[in-house]
Amino acid sequence: MLSLARSFVRPTFSRSLAQRAAAIHTLPELPYAYNALEPYISAEIMELHHTKHHQGYVNGLNAAEESYVKAPSTREKIALQAALKFNGGGHINHTLFWRNLAPVNQGGGQLKEGSKLKAALERDFGSVDAFKKNFNAATAGIQGSGWGWLAYNGATKKLELVTTPNQDPLLTHVPIIGIDIWEHAFYLQYKNVKADYLSAIWSVVNFEEANARYAEVA
Ligand SMILES: [Fe+2]
Repeated sequence: MLSLARSFVRPTFSRSLAQRAAAIHTLPELPYAYNALEPYISAEIMELHHTKHHQGYVNGLNAAEESYVKAPSTREKIALQAALKFNGGGHINHTLFWRNLAPVNQGGGQLKEGSKLKAALERDFGSVDAFKKNFNAATAGIQGSGWGWLAYNGATKKLELVTTPNQDPLLTHVPIIGIDIWEHAFYLQYKNVKADYLSAIWSVVNFEEANARYAEVA
């Protein structure tokens, strides 16, 4: 009787552990409606980007972490690193990206006079317009998919432009503003004209969030 009970209890216990591991990461809700960034980013793009692409990274990260926990050898754990980096980076980057954006009627695109970030952009790039121009040129040059970053370099104490390929998270700097340069972020609306997407997105960048992030580290 005891051994029969064990044969039922043990599998149930291990399934519940696996389920807990698989449910660690969840898709964060957007702090605005899918159509709130129009006309700069269409509702269709936002909904697909959030519910399909970001959800895919969340699912992939949960699956990779679950496999990592179960992997019986160091060799098999190492083999999962690419999946952890790709899906984990995708989850981290998109979570930051949504908070980097704001509808125009909620302050999107507006960098306040006297803010710490504005002063730092003028110090490190000459002007806010020069910063945007340099950012767009650097990110337009990404070959394939990747991310463009306004980032804080803790060693030089300056703001710098950095790009990362694929879904690599930014690990060398503190991210202040991250812009998704994957085609899924703009193609339905801007087709192949990445420059138009990059010009438009500054109208919905949440500079208040970026200023708060900068003020935390500078
Ligand atoms: Fe994306």
